[in-house]
Amino acid sequence: MALILGLESSCDETAASLVTSDRQIVAHCLARQDAAHRPYGGVVPEIAARAHVEALPPLIEQALAEGGVRLDQVDAIAATAGPGLIGGVMVGLVTGKALALAAGKPLIAVNHLEGHALSPRLTDPDLAFPYLLLLVSGGHCQLLLVEGAGRYRRLATTIDDAAGEAFDKTAKLLGLGFPGGPAVEKAAEAGDPRAVPLPRPLKGSAEPHFSFAGLKAAVARAAPNYPAADVAASFQQAVVDCLVDRTTRALRGIQATALVVAGGVAANRAVRGALEQLAAQHGLRFVAPPLWLCTDNAAMIAWAGAERFAAGFSDPLDTPARARWPL
Ligand code: KG4
Ligand code: ZN
Repeated sequence: MALILGLESSCDETAASLVTSDRQIVAHCLARQDAAHRPYGGVVPEIAARAHVEALPPLIEQALAEGGVRLDQVDAIAATAGPGLIGGVMVGLVTGKALALAAGKPLIAVNHLEGHALSPRLTDPDLAFPYLLLLVSGGHCQLLLVEGAGRYRRLATTIDDAAGEAFDKTAKLLGLGFPGGPAVEKAAEAGDPRAVPLPRPLKGSAEPHFSFAGLKAAVARAAPNYPAADVAASFQQAVVDCLVDRTTRALRGIQATALVVAGGVAANRAVRGALEQLAAQHGLRFVAPPLWLCTDNAAMIAWAGAERFAAGFSDPLDTPARARWPL
């Protein structure tokens, strides 16, 4: 059994976790930066990077203390090496390199998207490759066929905005605050999803991709004329319809053991519910990680590290931090 320390700092969560190769989550420590970014209505990269510098070392100490282990008892150190806000990625990766060098342990440079992609296997030991993954977060909206650790086939991506970005912009437009996704979901509870006519970009299209820019623009036009709850509910329904349509299209051409949803938007109950129904219609297992594992965290980075470590991967200490890094 291997014990992996994972570090995450690619956006606005700073996190350190200890996870074992047999799926024990030994420590899960996380600091959010919402309060620092709220006055700006979005994540400010420079503020994020500075906050990571302050928050990460005590989180690592806390994780080791919670696990009752010393650094030299860890088998490998996994750190997010991208994609993300480059200042933040550098903080976590350089910290990971320093710890690896000091403790004489291997460094595993993890792609943040791989962290999301493999995270469902941390809490579901029965989830076997290959599975269709809908990865929906603030920065990404992709359909991936996950064939193994390090083996991904990208079937679709967004041609403009990510789904989470659309949630965040809609929240800003409606004055619902930051972060936007949970605020829109809450507002939608009191609204009518059929009240506001909104487009479903690329729905029914022969091409596989996602698009949310047109929906965002339509929300901006409609918002002044309807109650905020109705706009929120109608917007959320439009996103759900697009996700279901594009996922249905992807399912046609592949063999998969399960339909899996991950990323921050997977925390949305309407999204989860609709995908669960879709999986049932196709006779597929539906797997969604617990909510805390859907949004950014270091347990998923440690777990991706564990899978890569088991597969024999490790990375040199001059591995670069990358703002862009497609899976
Ligand atoms: O995966 P994540 O924590 O960070 C990225 O890698 O992007 O995802 C954050 C995104 C944000 O856009 C946030 O608004 C969205 O996930 N999100 C939600 C919900 N919770 C978080 N979107 C819709 N409904 C939610 N309940
Ligand atoms: Zn993420």
